[in-house]
Amino acid sequence: MEAAHATPAWVLLAYLISGVCFILALRGLSSPESSRRGNRAGMIGMLIAVVTTIVVHAPRISGTAPDEYLHNLNVDWAVAGQILAAVMVGGAIGLVTARKIQMTAMPQLVAAFHSLVGMAAVLVGAAAFLNPSAFGIVDSAGAILGPSRIEMILGVAIGAITFSGSVIAFLKLNGNMSGKPILLPARHWINLAIVVAIAFFSFGFWHSQSPMDFWLVMALAFAIGFLLIVPIGGADMPVVISMLNSYSGWAAAAMGFTLHNSAMIITGALVGSSGAILSYIMCRAMNRSFISVIAGGFGGDSAAAGGGEVIDRPYKRGSAEDAAFLMSQADQVIIVPGYGMAVSQAQHALREMADLLKEQGVRVKYAIHPVAGRMPGHMNVLLAEANVPYDEVFELEDINSEFAQTDVAFVIGANDVTNPAAKTDKSSPIYGMPVLDVEKARTVLFVKRSMGGVGYAGVDNELFYRDNTMMLLADAKKMVEEIVKNIG
Ligand code: TAP
Repeated sequence: MEAAHATPAWVLLAYLISGVCFILALRGLSSPESSRRGNRAGMIGMLIAVVTTIVVHAPRISGTAPDEYLHNLNVDWAVAGQILAAVMVGGAIGLVTARKIQMTAMPQLVAAFHSLVGMAAVLVGAAAFLNPSAFGIVDSAGAILGPSRIEMILGVAIGAITFSGSVIAFLKLNGNMSGKPILLPARHWINLAIVVAIAFFSFGFWHSQSPMDFWLVMALAFAIGFLLIVPIGGADMPVVISMLNSYSGWAAAAMGFTLHNSAMIITGALVGSSGAILSYIMCRAMNRSFISVIAGGFGGDSAAAGGGEVIDRPYKRGSAEDAAFLMSQADQVIIVPGYGMAVSQAQHALREMADLLKEQGVRVKYAIHPVAGRMPGHMNVLLAEANVPYDEVFELEDINSEFAQTDVAFVIGANDVTNPAAKTDKSSPIYGMPVLDVEKARTVLFVKRSMGGVGYAGVDNELFYRDNTMMLLADAKKMVEEIVKNIG
């Protein structure tokens, strides 16, 4: 408690400013127009928080402390040098990774980063447990304060779940582990038993500060993180990622209390609650209940699905020339991008195609499904990168009614998000997910590489075989470039 009282006013103010910056960052990120500004606010907030923390906690020459006005820091530069070196190595790894990462690999990068947040919470908790007096959380008898025990055990438990869960999510998304659900027999009972055991030993730790209880909670939390994510299939992974994001926030907030760091508490609470809200929104977009996602067992392996069986049914195949003709004759074309557009990086060619169509008097709009692609906002980011005007981009609920008055729906590398089985087939794994009503357009053009390739959920799409559908079988970018040549 002492340390909390000793916190100088300027430190509290700096942490408050960084907290406000994080709120502005979240606000900015809610729309593509303001997202750069939001990112900048977040970077400034993080810079203020990191610099303040380093100055406040800089190692001092023994027996000295900094004065409140920073005239004399008494820094032990030998130790401070090690801290700065660690910050620089971490920063450099983050910078290089962020610059090199492919957009399609973003979900696994996020999972990997979450695992680090989880591990950091575990390590801070362990350090505070092993040396509580250094954290100012002991009473006069040398015992850890009651509230600190609760914060510590919560932070360690949530951090350990976040770590092992994120590692499994990373391995699944990166293809090192099958994306198929791995269903252990009696898993619900095993999980329930572990949760009860975690609660029991956490109570024991709070009650008696027993080291055995502390390490048992940590070990069981690592185990439950693993067991919770292993049965979750590929199609539910986005929800899992945002759920782990939320967990990592709560773990950081709990540790913020232990460290008396208000910036960490604010940031942790922001990440925790925004991750929880995003998970909820995504569950709604996929028509999945949060509990059923956590219970696991849904969604197949996209790689396996991609190479799936060839369905021998008649379909209409068209050429770039046909597509160019149909679209240039249209009053309105709605473009529906999906994962395949991201894979082939067709967004720039797509914009070029839209520009040419607009020159010919065609109205062009883009319809974005909330879970198109492989991460939230995936399509918006790619379209923004290609400078597609924001006012041409519409969310599902704002554009779905327009397909019925549209001449051509141009579906490029999207499958599940257009699949009418979600509306009609109760046995389909995507049943109940809201989908884009592309089939209501006069003509539907589907760009994909082959008839054998299916979407993420691994199910065929009945639309491919309808009379008003024309299949354009090719790599998305190559096909759009061909169409551009034929319009121009
Ligand atoms: P999908 O249903 O996965 O379909 C992708 C389509 O793109 C396939 O038909 C594939 O067919 C085609 N394709 C792949 N590479 C291509 C290329 N180079 N050129 C042309 N076409 C290509 O995509 P979607 O409609 O965007 O649906 C997203 C799915 O992913 C949903 O099930 C969703 O739940 C899930 N998911 C979403 C997220 C988030 S948050 N967005 C994260 C993880 C999973 P071919 O193989 O025949 O080319």
